[in-house]
Amino acid sequence: MDLTIVHTIQELQQLLNERRKQGVSVGFVPTMGFLHEGHLSLVEQARQKNDVIVMSIFVNPAQFGPGEDFEAYPRDTERDARLAAEAGVHILFMPTPEEMYPQEGGIRILPGPQSAELCGASRPGHFDGVLKVVLKLFNIVDPDRSYFGMKDAQQLAIIETFVRDFNLRTEIVRVPTVREQDGLAKSSRNVHLTETERLEAPAIQQALRLGASLVAEGVSANDIEQQVSKAIVTNSSGSIDYVSLLAYPELKKVDADSKEIIIACAVKFSKTRLIDNIIIPLKG
Ligand code: PAF
Repeated sequence: MDLTIVHTIQELQQLLNERRKQGVSVGFVPTMGFLHEGHLSLVEQARQKNDVIVMSIFVNPAQFGPGEDFEAYPRDTERDARLAAEAGVHILFMPTPEEMYPQEGGIRILPGPQSAELCGASRPGHFDGVLKVVLKLFNIVDPDRSYFGMKDAQQLAIIETFVRDFNLRTEIVRVPTVREQDGLAKSSRNVHLTETERLEAPAIQQALRLGASLVAEGVSANDIEQQVSKAIVTNSSGSIDYVSLLAYPELKKVDADSKEIIIACAVKFSKTRLIDNIIIPLKG
């Protein structure tokens, strides 16, 4: 099956209705484009379980706050289409903002307590915008399974809760973060690092690993957050937006019921802000 590119909801739904008559399953990979191996690994996972793979590319204005990088977000639709075709995507949905948001009725979807921490705290309204577009995309595509990367661990946790709480039909599949050889998490925003910052950026993952070893030694959450922050600022020119240790996927303080811990961080470089995390299973 070759790649078909569609720009309107109507075209997409017509295509999917035809394919569904043949009883196929649909795997969905929502993205904001400027594809890298992280996105391609979502497609690879999707191909293992679904007959038809739909990818969306839409830089969603609703999830960017004032002064954030909506305009500067990297875009290259020709290259994206080539990579999507090579990866085995069947339908690439690339709507315009007018197609996705033809009118503004003012209804908002408010994420719950999981959005109070991490990126939700430093980017107010970000997850409202993510849930808005994700709900629209789920309704438009009606996928059997949807694939999200663990680099955006908070986004993934909130979307899992959203799907569960609102009985959305799709199954959410978690896909591990893909990394460069030196440990830097693949991200569309890495292209905005200067040469020096690119060399320094693996310090983020190294610091998170240090954090994981401190968890194993029983060091307190506060001390771990401080030591991870210190390791990042000592070994890079990045400044800390946050470093937080929480229970995952609840994103609250760790307690006796916690099954996994996340140490997550956001680090600001001169032209971009990178996020990364490490998840540590708790014994017992
Ligand atoms: O993770 C992303 O790229 C975006 O937040 C998503 C899920 C495609 C919604 O715009």
